[in-house]
Amino acid sequence: MRIDVAFNGSATGQGDLHDRVVLVIDVLRASTSIAAALGNGARAVVPFAGVDEAMTRARSLDRSEVVLAGERKMVPIPGFDLGNSPRGFTREAVAGKTIVMTTTNGTAALANTAGSAEVLVGAFVNYAAVLARLRAAAREGKSLVIQCAGSHGRFALEDAVCAGRFVRGVARRGIAPELGDAARVAAMIDRRMGGDLAAVLRESEHGRALVDAGFGEDVDDCARLNAHPVVPVYRERQVVPLGLQRRR
Ligand code: MLT
Repeated sequence: MRIDVAFNGSATGQGDLHDRVVLVIDVLRASTSIAAALGNGARAVVPFAGVDEAMTRARSLDRSEVVLAGERKMVPIPGFDLGNSPRGFTREAVAGKTIVMTTTNGTAALANTAGSAEVLVGAFVNYAAVLARLRAAAREGKSLVIQCAGSHGRFALEDAVCAGRFVRGVARRGIAPELGDAARVAAMIDRRMGGDLAAVLRESEHGRALVDAGFGEDVDDCARLNAHPVVPVYRERQVVPLGLQRRR
């Protein structure tokens, strides 16, 4: 099996995806918030690229069962219930609810995975749980594409460190994947910079912007390794926890 990493928010340049697992990462903050929401009992997260689409969808559902969440330029969208702060997705706010969500890069990145065998959503907060799923897929011979949401099509350090952590986690103890060049670089970045996650997230471009905008605590929350041990799976346009999907 093989591991490739896409740093620019889209796995579609990585060739045929039909038998490959795609892992979408947007550490700051969309994939962390998705893991927090599902970890705290949300039924599903339904991602939308646009604000209007998200509002229209929320209006079409029973409002008491929906939480409308998202950001533009990092701040909560007027009229929405929540922004994109992982700490906002508390059990009280989200348990049993469907989260209709739109964020700048993260929710759009999910749309760039069409045609793949399985799409997972990963971050540091659900690292071990997602890694176990990836290792199981690797043992079945399934190749992996790690798609970093990045920032407006550009490289984002925090996503690269997280991607590298997953590459290193899969490629050990009896699994020896072929690594694409970007996967090797991601692993190097994690080895070199991933020792203090809170520090590297705060040093990243987007981390600094979040701190400047008053969201420093969110940045620290996004560095909490394994705080939300869920495996979010994106299927039929919604993200659900893997366990829940199996029980159905
Ligand atoms: C995004 O999707 O671009 C991010 O999650 C932005 C943010 O920090 O809210």
